[in-house]
Amino acid sequence: MKIHTLISPVSVEDLYFAGKTTVVIDVLRATTTIVTALSNGAKEVIPVSTIGFAMKVSGNAFGGKTLLGGERNAKKIEGFPLGNSPLEYSEDIVKDKSIVLFTTNGTKAIVRAKYSDNLYICSFQNINAIAKELAELNNDIEIVCAGSHGMFSLEDSVCAGCLIERIKNYTSDISYSDASKCSVMLYNKFKNDILGMLKESEHGKLLIDYGFENDLEFASQVDVQHIVPVYNSGVIKKKDTIQSDG
Ligand code: MLT
Repeated sequence: MKIHTLISPVSVEDLYFAGKTTVVIDVLRATTTIVTALSNGAKEVIPVSTIGFAMKVSGNAFGGKTLLGGERNAKKIEGFPLGNSPLEYSEDIVKDKSIVLFTTNGTKAIVRAKYSDNLYICSFQNINAIAKELAELNNDIEIVCAGSHGMFSLEDSVCAGCLIERIKNYTSDISYSDASKCSVMLYNKFKNDILGMLKESEHGKLLIDYGFENDLEFASQVDVQHIVPVYNSGVIKKKDTIQSDG
């Protein structure tokens, strides 16, 4: 199994992902929010890459049971009932709902990787479930860090390194790209203080300035959810939901 890590999806075209097994990570905050929404009973999350498309999808589809969520520059978008704080996605709000989500980097990274054969959504919160799934699948893997406007994000790379270390617990037959090796080194540097690392990251500092410090604490929790969110035909669902839907 070869594990490759992209520090951002912007350097590759959509078709780069065709036939691949891909994992998207946006710790602060899109993938943490998606994992939270699905863990709290949302029926599905529909990631979109433009605000206009979010409005269109929420108006016409999914039986009117949609909720619009997302951010621009980390702040709630006017007219959207939900922002991108995972703490907003509680069971009483999201249960049985289809969430249409637009975020600056995270949902765009997911949409960019849409041609993957298998596309998973990972955060620190569900990292072991994803690691186990990938080890069982035993394919080569592309880990896509959402990054920030095409640039490197510390928290996504540390999470990528954590994922690789967890996969190693299940299989030893792994080879690494240079970016994957760097991610593992970064994870080993910060593994005893994930919250401290988030607080030191550029985006973490911005979120603290905007009053979202609690989101960092929430996003730093490792292995507290055991779900495998899978993207398929435009929507993200929990793996068991996909199976039971037939
Ligand atoms: C993004 O997609 O860029 C983020 O999730 C931003 C955020 O909400 O903090």
